[in-house]
Parts: sequence; C-alpha cells; structure tokens
Amino acid sequence: LILAQTALETIPRELAQHPAVVADSKRRRKPPDEILLDRSVHHAAMSRLKEARSRGRPDIAYHVVLDVTCAPAYRCRSLKLYVHTRNDLVISLSEDVRPPKSYDRFRNLMEQLLVRRQVGEEKDLMTVKEMKLRDLIAEIKPGKVIGLSRLGNRADLHELVSGSMGKKPCFVVGGFPAGHFDDETTSLFHELCSIGGEGLEASLVVCRLVYEIEKSLGLG
Ligand SMILES: C[S@@+](CC[C@H](N)C(=O)[O-])C[C@H]1O[C@@H](n2cnc3c(N)ncnc32)[C@H](O)[C@@H]1O
Repeated sequence: LILAQTALETIPRELAQHPAVVADSKRRRKPPDEILLDRSVHHAAMSRLKEARSRGRPDIAYHVVLDVTCAPAYRCRSLKLYVHTRNDLVISLSEDVRPPKSYDRFRNLMEQLLVRRQVGEEKDLMTVKEMKLRDLIAEIKPGKVIGLSRLGNRADLHELVSGSMGKKPCFVVGGFPAGHFDDETTSLFHELCSIGGEGLEASLVVCRLVYEIEKSLGLG
C-alpha cells in the first residue's frame, strides 16, 4: 500500500519569514525548515504558496500510518506500507514499527526523519530515501498497480481486492487533502478505481481497503 504525493513536508523557504511561521518557530524553538508545514498552524502563510490546496496536511499521514500499522494484516506481514511525499521522499515502515499514538510525538518523529533522514530509537523501523514513485513501484515489482480515486471507474471494493490478491497488488491512495493524482502518478496505474461517487478521506479509504484485504486473507 502506498500513500502517494502525501502532503508531508517541512516549511518551504519562501514562507520562512511570514509572521505565522516566525511565531510558530519561536514557540517550538526550531528553525522553520525543521518544522512540518501544517495548515492548521500556518494557514495565513500558505495563501502565497503554489498548489496550497494540496499541501500542509501531515495529519493525513498520521492517521493512515496509525490505522495501517495496527492492522492484523500488517502485523502478520501480509501488507507493507510506504509513504511517498510530494517532494519525492519515500518513508518505508517496518512491520515491527509502533508509531507514536500522540500527534505531537508523531510530528516530532517525522520532522526528525525528514530533516536528519533518520530517527534515533526507531532506527531501521522507519527509513527515508529520495525516490520517485515510479522508482518505488519498480523496486516493489507489483503484479498490478491499482490507483484509488473518486474519478476512477466505479468498482466494488470487495471484488477489486479479492480479484487481485493473487497478483501481488499495489494499492495507491492519495495522501493529499484536495485535488487529484498528477499525470505522472496516474500513468503508473494499471487501473484507476473509485469506491463511491463522493470524495472520501484517505484514512477512511485505507481502512476500508485494509478490511477487504484482511477478509481476503481470512484474517477478518
Ligand atoms: C481526500 S482525497 C483527495 C481529494 C480528491 N478530491 C478526491 O475526491 O479523491 C484523498 C484520497 O482518497 C482516495 N479517495 C477519496 N475518495 C475516493 C473514492 N470515492 N474512491 C476511491 N478513492 C477515493 C483517493 O486516493 C484520494 O487521492
């Protein structure tokens, strides 16, 4: 499972002098380029930012990472999770990882990972490298790459999952709050499927997907 184009990045240089960023930087006693861009804190600064609608939502990765890593399918190593960011970093999570349940601790961990490219006590449990989504998929070598999007062809999730389980499928869900996969990402999919007419939160889509995977594996 890949969470792709995830809105997880440190504050870009062009926003470093904005008063909302300077205030947060003082409060957290960290330089802006070591703080995650977060719309809930940096909203005023983000109005100047390119593609602002799809950026500044680290909480999406937080929810997905917690939901997936506690799932039986993940714990029994039948499912692997990668978080690909909009800046082409790929975070790989080991099956033994226990991410912090507190958002503050998760945020600090992500900041450490993105800035220092490694984390202390979680070393080897979470790794990050610069990598395009295309190269990640080439490395995983899935039998089938299935993108999930409201704009895809309508599919029954149960049939989609049970029909692809023997093919080493790779499911790709967008880790951004608004907009759609870019053309480069869409070109990597064998299929683009919708599981409903309305736009759903990434974490809800992931939970439904994991549930179907577990049923297919007999873990339900
Ligand atoms: C909050 S949505 C992104 C917003 C986008 N406008 C949308 O409606 O899909 C995050 C991700 O959840 C997944 N998603 C949301 N609604 C979906 C749907 N109806 N069918 C399949 N996937 C969906 C997609 O992977 C999407 O990139």
